[in-house]
Amino acid sequence: MTEHAIIHNTALAIDGGLPCVPDKPNSYLHGPQEIGDEEIAEVTDALRKQNLFRFLKDPATSATAQFETAFQKKVLTEHVLAVNSGTSALIAAMIGLGVSTGDEVIVPGYTYIATAAAALAVGAIPVIAEIDQSLTLDPVDVERKITPRTRLIVPVHMRGAPCQMDELMAVTRRHGLRLLEDCAQANGGSYHGRPLGSIGDAGVFSFQHFKIITAGEGGVVVTNDRSVYERAACYHDSAYAFWMEKRQKLSIAPFLGENYRMSDLNGALALAQLRKRDTILASLRAIKKRLINGVSDLSGIELQNMPDPAGDCGVALAFFVESSERAKRFAQALRAEGMSAGSMFDAGFPDRHVFYHWDYVMQRRSPDRHGHPWPLADDSVRYDRDMCPATTALLRRAVAVPLTQRMSQTHVDGCIQAIRKVNAAL
Ligand SMILES: Cc1ncc(COP(=O)(O)O)c(C=O)c1O
Repeated sequence: MTEHAIIHNTALAIDGGLPCVPDKPNSYLHGPQEIGDEEIAEVTDALRKQNLFRFLKDPATSATAQFETAFQKKVLTEHVLAVNSGTSALIAAMIGLGVSTGDEVIVPGYTYIATAAAALAVGAIPVIAEIDQSLTLDPVDVERKITPRTRLIVPVHMRGAPCQMDELMAVTRRHGLRLLEDCAQANGGSYHGRPLGSIGDAGVFSFQHFKIITAGEGGVVVTNDRSVYERAACYHDSAYAFWMEKRQKLSIAPFLGENYRMSDLNGALALAQLRKRDTILASLRAIKKRLINGVSDLSGIELQNMPDPAGDCGVALAFFVESSERAKRFAQALRAEGMSAGSMFDAGFPDRHVFYHWDYVMQRRSPDRHGHPWPLADDSVRYDRDMCPATTALLRRAVAVPLTQRMSQTHVDGCIQAIRKVNAAL
């Protein structure tokens, strides 16, 4: 499109005008789009060894063990435990941190439902707190929701945005609690120069298909606390102490576990993808910077408040407009222009990332015949769709634009043009 056409293209495509965004990416995925020869070589190598079980190998030849070492160098914690999903990482980490039956675990009202489900899986009660204009956990509401039963706070670095970690750590320490960072969507993000995951008492990551890098399925628990690591490791494998018999003396008495082991097939894929992570992030950050520079002067939109812009992963641009109706119309109009965009809350659309739609939490449903752990919840714990009004009000007014490392400059410039055009026209 010529400069001339751009300047005069003011009629919205949604109203029959000329769309202004060329070159829409075919895929908005991150890690999966980068799968190539390196991944094929690592996975093939793992297959050729004809042994996909990490504990029946020397760690030097296990792709999973190598992945843990490589991840440890990036996240800079003393311990890294690979597991088979982000959800199992959350469960193992909560066990590692001593979360027990009937404890309260504070989670944000805007996160993937697994953050709350993991608390239930360890017999704890999720207490849902508000987010603020950062679209991450509001430290003020967290403090309000602390009770004598609270054990753990779980900030979630949603869509790559670092949470307000100074404030959240201060609340955590003030009340003698523990903090687990859910970094599933923020692999490689940082806060004031420290890798996300290394700030709290433990952190978890996911390598599921939609994440910044993927292992097919997979996750890790990271921590500097040896006993948290050993407890998580024991829980991730019911026979962990047996495999470790000749390798490592445990400082804790082993207890029951499940099977959350990562296979060397997933470990091999994760290892190859990890080498690409920082290149993916550099592209995402450059794209987001260009977009922000192109729209930050607009008066009709207010950008997400980013607690540490330098540490943002750049997987999405989010902004607020004045009303829910405008957010929906804005997103529709952007899509018609040829880009991807969505409003962030719709009561009629069951989005697994918003507490409002977490029916099995709202209705206290359990697979257990006795309803475990719900009978243990204190009377003060309340669930209903109006329980976090600030969260739904913010999400209703928010528009999100997903970003991918493969977006061309022409596309990004078209997105800037579209946001400006829609903002002026609506
Ligand atoms: C914020 C968040 N936490 C936890 C998870 C759970 O990870 P997984 O799907 O690997 O179990 C996900 C993603 O799926 C997530 O986005």
